[in-house]
Amino acid sequence: MRIHPIIAGNWKMNFTPSESEVFVGKCRNMLLDIERSQVIFCPPFTGLERAKNALQGSTHGLGAQNCHWESKGAYTGEISLEMLIDIGVQYVIAGHSERRHIFNESDSWINRKVKAILNADLTPILCIGETLEERNSGKTEQVIQTQLNQGLNGVPDISGIIIAYEPVWAIGTGVTATPGQAGEAHAIIRQTIRSIFGADNVDALRILYGGSVKPDNAEALIEIPGVDGFLIGGASLKAEDFSDIAHIVEHKYLRN
Ligand code: PGA
Repeated sequence: MRIHPIIAGNWKMNFTPSESEVFVGKCRNMLLDIERSQVIFCPPFTGLERAKNALQGSTHGLGAQNCHWESKGAYTGEISLEMLIDIGVQYVIAGHSERRHIFNESDSWINRKVKAILNADLTPILCIGETLEERNSGKTEQVIQTQLNQGLNGVPDISGIIIAYEPVWAIGTGVTATPGQAGEAHAIIRQTIRSIFGADNVDALRILYGGSVKPDNAEALIEIPGVDGFLIGGASLKAEDFSDIAHIVEHKYLRN
């Protein structure tokens, strides 16, 4: 089965609403020939609506960086899925390492979010990955398994979920996982998913790599077996870099 790759830009806390609209418009012009890969823009909440305007009539996707699992209520500062759907959001990132480590989100919170995103008929992008300390103490496999088992607890079916492997030590640091490290982690993820959900559907599962993806390393990273695209932070804020990475991914798909 041919899996269509994904290039998702996680802007984090960058770009005002007006900047979001201009930026998406600029990227759109540079991505006109991207037809097989799914491009997803994930602006901050405040930029979603203007980004959506700029995406009108294109096949690129719109993603949010977070959500609350409750549909409404006394949750000051939070945003519900109903609100995101009303804007036209299709994807929601859950469990990004910055949410886990800076905002102390637990696997059980992330699990509630994943289930709520699925119940709302949106696509979760579930992020997992080990810290440097965990890697150095030989716990990478265990961390990946725990985050998957807990994050997907009670989820009936893996179809409709995207996983992003983002080793924490590679995020925003300029250090990327080596092909060996990324390939091994992606294989562990696929194996774990197979053991949770059975072999069906696992072939269609897309596992993205994230962590300092740039135009000059994207070629090597996309060649790694089991890497089905990227979740990109820093380089997604530069239209040229984001477009270059999207073209590298698209060309790899067309070549195969
Ligand atoms: P980075 O971020 O590309 O800047 O390392 C990736 C991410 O946090 O999703």
